[in-house]
Amino acid sequence: MTTAAVVLAAGKGTRFHSDLPKVLHRVAGRSLLRWVLEALRPLNLPRVVVVVGHGAEAVRADAEAAGIDGLVPVVQAEQRGTGHAVRVAADAGLLDDVDDVLVVPGDAPLVTADLLAELLDRSGDAAATLLTASLVDPSGYGRVVRGADGTVACVVEDRDATAAQRAITEVNTSVYRFARAPLVRELQRLTSDNAQGEQYLTDVVAPLAAAGLDALLAPAELVAGVNDRAELAAAGAVLRGRVLTALMRAGVTVVDPAATYVDADVTVAADAVLLPGTHLEGATAVGRAATVGPDTRLVDTTVADGATVTYSLAVGAFVGPGATVGPFTYLRPGARLERGAKAGAFVEIKQSTVGENSKVPHLSYVGDTTIGRDANIGAATVTVNYDGYRKHKTVIGDGARVGSDTMLVAPVTVGARAYTGAGSVITKDVPDGALAVERGEQRVVEGYADRRRQRHDRGE
Ligand code: UD1
Ligand code: CA
Repeated sequence: MTTAAVVLAAGKGTRFHSDLPKVLHRVAGRSLLRWVLEALRPLNLPRVVVVVGHGAEAVRADAEAAGIDGLVPVVQAEQRGTGHAVRVAADAGLLDDVDDVLVVPGDAPLVTADLLAELLDRSGDAAATLLTASLVDPSGYGRVVRGADGTVACVVEDRDATAAQRAITEVNTSVYRFARAPLVRELQRLTSDNAQGEQYLTDVVAPLAAAGLDALLAPAELVAGVNDRAELAAAGAVLRGRVLTALMRAGVTVVDPAATYVDADVTVAADAVLLPGTHLEGATAVGRAATVGPDTRLVDTTVADGATVTYSLAVGAFVGPGATVGPFTYLRPGARLERGAKAGAFVEIKQSTVGENSKVPHLSYVGDTTIGRDANIGAATVTVNYDGYRKHKTVIGDGARVGSDTMLVAPVTVGARAYTGAGSVITKDVPDGALAVERGEQRVVEGYADRRRQRHDRGE
């Protein structure tokens, strides 16, 4: 028994009022479509047809980026309804060689692989098996109308339903398993004679009743559709909760899950601690026993074992084992702290390496710089890396001591174990072990304060 999936992702999502197609809106680090595709991935179906239309190129690219074997995009040029969308897949010949068709809407990010597998497993001889749910507020959904014997008779869309049908709380989730032949036959017969003037997929259900309909009642929290941004936020909360629960079960301490935001593809090792206000995004990885937060955002950043990042923002950075970052530190792309290094308060670092056990403790800008090991960069040091046209490199050797408020005008090298005097503007290379001082000699004017006071008292 071979099964193809058809993912419906051609609609605009009018209720989003967005230039971006609905299925590309993101929650917990993935597009809505990607969540659906990730639920399909473990089923290893031989074909996953993704019906694209509105924003076709972008949606196709997002689908293909999932890297799922057997994924085939097909274009529904005009969005004439959910039934028409499946028909486009059938007319393209993409369902010819399968026995069953699993339909999943692209706007149902809460669906899980287990639930889809259960739907496929229970489908015996029925022409169609609907995934349904019982909702406290079923408004907007198609209602599942059952006959006197309790079997499914048809699905009626909210806008086409009678008052009595609207009172039904069992809804169609838009996830179905169909036997291919009767599905394709009924798709050819669809009309758009309804409130929305569309070819509804739900209209194939009634004609299949004679051939046997089955339904699987799913928990509401697995099937909610996302039709506007309020529902997007609600789905995001559920998905983030799942991500955090999985991390906690695997040994990560999350002090306040309601105030912690971790994207689905982030990895966090056991004994790491995520404090409130932590946002981990994109391809971020946090190592064993590392501590992140409070109030820290890490994007595409690696934090190695035992490192600490507090009250900070890092994008595309690497924080080595046992290194410390923050508070109030900005690590930009290419910032790399080696083992035991430190980037302290009000420090910005980009495209630079801070070597093992080296410290940039306070109020500094480090750009396009290589710092060796065991160096100390005094407070308010600035690498002057930009001349208005080009960026230039600074090199600071092992064990160097850069004095506070040093301007390092790049390109420049401070040698190993070299010193710079506080307040110096360093424009020439400093040899290994040397001291470079660049500032006016200090003048001392004795008795100045008293003379000044006397002038004031005389009214001068
Ligand atoms: C649909 C169902 C409804 C069900 C609800 C569950 C129909 C007619 N209605 O309503 O019974 O309760 O889902 O969430 O099927 N799409 C296309 N091409 C089109 C139209 C839609 O690909 O021409 C895609 C959309 O992008 C979307 C999905 O199909 O991902 C569902 O469409 P949507 O407009 O959201 O349907 P609902 O009104 O939610
Ligand atoms: Ca929908």
